[in-house]
Amino acid sequence: MSSAPDRYAVIGHPVDHSRSPDIHRLFAEQCGQVMEYTRLPAPTDGFERVAGEFFGAGGAGLNVTLPFKLAAAEFADRLTERAERAGAVNTLKTTPNGLLGDNTDGAGLVADLVDNLGATVAGRHVLILGAGGAVRGVVPSLLAAGAARITIANRSIDKARAIATACAGMGEVIACGLDALPEDADLVINAISAGLTEGTMPALNPRILARAGAVYDMIYADAPTPFLRWAAEHGVAAGRDGFGMLVEQAAESFALWRGMRPSTKAVMDTLRGPATRGPG
Ligand code: ATR
Repeated sequence: MSSAPDRYAVIGHPVDHSRSPDIHRLFAEQCGQVMEYTRLPAPTDGFERVAGEFFGAGGAGLNVTLPFKLAAAEFADRLTERAERAGAVNTLKTTPNGLLGDNTDGAGLVADLVDNLGATVAGRHVLILGAGGAVRGVVPSLLAAGAARITIANRSIDKARAIATACAGMGEVIACGLDALPEDADLVINAISAGLTEGTMPALNPRILARAGAVYDMIYADAPTPFLRWAAEHGVAAGRDGFGMLVEQAAESFALWRGMRPSTKAVMDTLRGPATRGPG
């Protein structure tokens, strides 16, 4: 008797443009896994209901995207240590002991930085521009990867301070405003969401690139982002956008669900062509 394939989905609002179904279809093909992966839209106030119905009907796992990552952390019965540290969940999995919440965003960023861009995190000073939900999820992973110091710079300095305070026990994390950026960072990561719309990225002092060997934009797009173009114009051509992070965090989720880790490079090449604009 053949059983129905295990069911997975990405839940979010909106979720119609998510690349995750394509990524997981390619992972499943590569790993010989029979599984279904769909988009699961939910109204902004409807995460618990929609996710509850999905798991109630036998769903095996969910990826969680904006704006539900905090709600998913509340919803899970147990959290992995990294999800606990991040205070947010992007992956849910049914287990015999209830619903497990994990956060693979930080691991995805570090994998893309180190394996694909060829950047060094260990022992380095990392400057992060922005202090939104995405930053909260990745700072613990950058510290776990050995970053010597992280500076979080944000327009609203209080949000940067809140993340620095929450992560204080894990390593050296400093907060500053966009008008007082350090000039000794080895790696500069953009997480300012305005960076995708032309002309809305705030003016940045190019001196922040003085020592940077590489830059990274957590936002992704079909064309180089304004931040990556700005960095290239100021002499730092080694850069990647966040598409690789998306694929790498998906691979981590897939590994949690299926017990095997797919190769990410072939999937990145298939979905976007060679995405690297740096040495990686
Ligand atoms: P995400 O979850 O993707 O990080 P978010 O939580 O909405 O998204 O965070 C957006 C980030 O971009 C914030 O750091 C925000 O700065 P504030 O905290 O001061 O709002 C930053 N951002 C958005 N538009 C900006 C702009 N025009 N200038 C400077 N920073 C901006």
